[in-house]
Amino acid sequence: MNFTSVIMAAGMGTRMKSKMPKVIHKVCGKEICRWVIDAAKNAGSDKVCTIVGHRADMVKEILGDICEFALQAEQKGTGHAVMQAIDVIKSAKKEVVILNGDIPLITAESIKKAVNYHRENGNQATVITAVLDDATGYGRIVRGDDGGVRKIVEQKDANDEEKKINEINSGMYVFDSESLLYALEKLTPNNAQGEYYLTDTLEILLNAGKKVGGYAIADNDEIRGINDRIQLDEAEKIMQKRINEYHMRNGVTIRNPQSVCIEDDVEISSDSEICQNVTIKSGTKIGSDCVIGSGSTLDKAVIGDGVNVISSVIIESEVGAGTNVGPFAYIRPNCNVGSDVKVGDFVELKNSTIGDGTKISHLTYIGDSDVGKGVNFGCGTVTVNYDGKKKYRTVIGDNCFIGCNTNLVSPVNVGDGAYIAAGSTITDDIPEDNLSIARARQVNKDGWKDKRK
Ligand code: UD1
Ligand code: MG
Repeated sequence: MNFTSVIMAAGMGTRMKSKMPKVIHKVCGKEICRWVIDAAKNAGSDKVCTIVGHRADMVKEILGDICEFALQAEQKGTGHAVMQAIDVIKSAKKEVVILNGDIPLITAESIKKAVNYHRENGNQATVITAVLDDATGYGRIVRGDDGGVRKIVEQKDANDEEKKINEINSGMYVFDSESLLYALEKLTPNNAQGEYYLTDTLEILLNAGKKVGGYAIADNDEIRGINDRIQLDEAEKIMQKRINEYHMRNGVTIRNPQSVCIEDDVEISSDSEICQNVTIKSGTKIGSDCVIGSGSTLDKAVIGDGVNVISSVIIESEVGAGTNVGPFAYIRPNCNVGSDVKVGDFVELKNSTIGDGTKISHLTYIGDSDVGKGVNFGCGTVTVNYDGKKKYRTVIGDNCFIGCNTNLVSPVNVGDGAYIAAGSTITDDIPEDNLSIARARQVNKDGWKDKRK
């Protein structure tokens, strides 16, 4: 659609009672302000400038290079905020869309519709409005006899008649860049707060004979601003419902979706089932026909088709098709688990590759290891990967049998097809197809009990 966006995010957000600026608090795993920036970009904005002020460096660092920034060192009102982006506005070829940085639920579709409405009506300024049952706190839209927008009056400046108006200013606007520049030049801090009100630009434009319109949004939830942690929760519930319903429409079953947290940027293929109390973080991909059992957490996990995960945690790792994980397994970053593997109860994996068909059924730690295919781990195997200073790798070939309660003191190599007797502490390499026994031989002392007396 080719327009420029200016996003106001310089305010402190006092009511959040937080060390962090309000706009970088997260809704469904994504910063409030990033939702707004993404909505603008998805609507077709080719340039986005975010106005930062309170803890500007922190906001810029967290958001990174997803947009341009302009600094509003002192917060002297919304009009003053937009003035800080004057160079961006001057270079804008088409419309300038102004958005509040604390309204994460705004959708790209609504922004597009507002820009279209603005174009089709030949407006120089269009304000996005909403009709609310309770308009308290918002700027009210005062319309003239012809139904057109006349001005916006802030709650603090409104008279009793104006306070009764229930059409409100969402804080979002579409301007022709020339008209915005013209109005910003004429703006004065002429109100109870001594602030530069962006809303006053509408009256300035009307007085100059320009056309100003109001575009009423269809879904009032989209204009919900976040000021405190209660509103943060309300917005998160709505966003979570949107995300979960998106996946359900794609053919994913979600049990008790109110309890399931799926962040933005998650892919789930059809016929997978997500059970209650599951958390799936950004960057996770799940194949089809999987069951992600209750209480599981997946964070940047890549899960193949037909995988079962029961009450387990998988972080920054890949799990191949047909593998079973859990209950109570912990797959830590940088693991590549093959297909048809079993990672059973109380098994922890870290920075390791596990070949296809390998079984690690119970009570085992495998860290910094390369394990082949078809290996069977007995209960209670430990790779001893750390000598207190450095970490070393353990390499285990294909089709090995690791007896119960084995310690593999790394660095150590176990050849293909090797067997290790239960209770062994392996410190030396084992050639292929060998049986290795590394434990004290058992001694039975006949009649010992009687001699003890
Ligand atoms: C503003 C509107 C009001 C509208 C409401 C919608 C004005 C004068 N009023 O009021 O009509 O109904 O939003 O939520 O515009 N900001 C800055 N720098 C500043 C001041 C604000 O960047 O100097 C940012 C804030 O961080 C916030 C946004 O602008 O993201 C809105 O500011 P806020 O103080 O919340 O305005 P309201 O009083 O809510
Ligand atoms: Mg506000």
